[in-house]
Amino acid sequence: MDLYEHQAKKLFARYGVPTVQGSVVYNSEQAAGAVADMEFPVVVKAQVKVGGRGKAGGVKLAHNLQELNQYTNEILGMDIKSHRVRRLLVDPGVDIAEEYYLSFLLDRSNRGYLAMCSVSGGMDIEQVAKDTPELLAKIPINPVDGLTRECALEIVKKGQLPEEIQDKAASVVQQLYEVMIDADATLVEVNPLVRTTDDEILAIDGKVTLDNNSEFRHLSLFDEFRDDSGADFREIAAKKVGLNYVKLDGNVGIIGNGAGLVMSTLDVVAYAGEKYGDIKPANFLDIGGGASAEVMEAGLRIIMDDPDVEAIFVNVFGGITSCVEVASGIVKALQSLGDSAEKPIVIRIDGNAVEEGRKVIEEANLPYITTAARMDEGARMVARITADRLGLSNSEGE
Ligand SMILES: Nc1ncnc2c1ncn2[C@@H]1O[C@H](COP(=O)(O)OP(=O)(O)O)[C@@H](O)[C@H]1O
Ligand SMILES: [Mg+2]
Repeated sequence: MDLYEHQAKKLFARYGVPTVQGSVVYNSEQAAGAVADMEFPVVVKAQVKVGGRGKAGGVKLAHNLQELNQYTNEILGMDIKSHRVRRLLVDPGVDIAEEYYLSFLLDRSNRGYLAMCSVSGGMDIEQVAKDTPELLAKIPINPVDGLTRECALEIVKKGQLPEEIQDKAASVVQQLYEVMIDADATLVEVNPLVRTTDDEILAIDGKVTLDNNSEFRHLSLFDEFRDDSGADFREIAAKKVGLNYVKLDGNVGIIGNGAGLVMSTLDVVAYAGEKYGDIKPANFLDIGGGASAEVMEAGLRIIMDDPDVEAIFVNVFGGITSCVEVASGIVKALQSLGDSAEKPIVIRIDGNAVEEGRKVIEEANLPYITTAARMDEGARMVARITADRLGLSNSEGE
């Protein structure tokens, strides 16, 4: 899970990292209220989970209320690399003398962490990394040994931070490493880490990625920072019942078991849909290995309810769970959905006890159901049904 800048800095502060923390606001009235106890200049910062906000015009220094109002209105609603700005951070303006770069990341190939540090931080760090890589120091950290004071000093020295500030900066390096380890982060990045005109070291930007696999160890942290505001409400509903669902932009609802099978199903449906111009999958939905009636029903509910979905392709492989169970699951789910299940469904089941499974579906004699023996055949069928419903014709004139 990626954190917003304001969340990252909140987390930093808990570990003693010197930072600035203003107020999060959603409109210009709130922004005006937020500066009541701040001195100008203040900085208005777009809160989107993507870098390069400064270059996109999403970070502005306001010297008075009028500028604050102007920048707030300009930045709210802005599109930064396809992220719509809905919230802002109003931070105290900092007198910056120098901007440094500091980060920790998980270095999987070396089974450790990697620290990166540079005296040339700020908005052009990508350019620095490309043109003058010698200015971006990379120091591997052995996670078993941890980050000693010596190692922290080595990082700031190799990053060529000025000598008189190295001691202070090394302390911040140690605190940020604490954040990395303690929160199970896979990335902690501060760009810029600034030296102020009175020689303080401050983290004025922050990027943190928490490891989703560690959520069970950090339930309250994930609860605190989780942000569903940009997510599709079906994705949230699916997550609540433990399903892996991703909304896509086509018209064919997809249900399968196992991520690999579902991904292949997306491919074959998109391929079959090419003939009709614009028939594509409407979602990814993996109901997992068990494929019980309850899970199938929960999945079908989410997909049936999507107004973009014209027809559904259920593609399930019976492995340990036999096709009879899978088929009974589908039938039970459709019976319990009743009248709300009025979209055409193409079902392809295969695997363990497939003949008996198909029989269960045939004998249930449900409306709206077609069965396919093979996956590509099923994909062609569902693409044709969807195209019919959308009034699209086959490019080959069939
Ligand atoms: N509180 C602040 N006071 C003064 N300048 C700031 C402040 N926050 C950011 N800046 C300036 O804006 C630049 C971009 O801000 P930053 O938070 O790093 O956003 P991004 O990395 O997305 O461009 C910084 O490099 C810095 O020069
Ligand atoms: Mg930055």
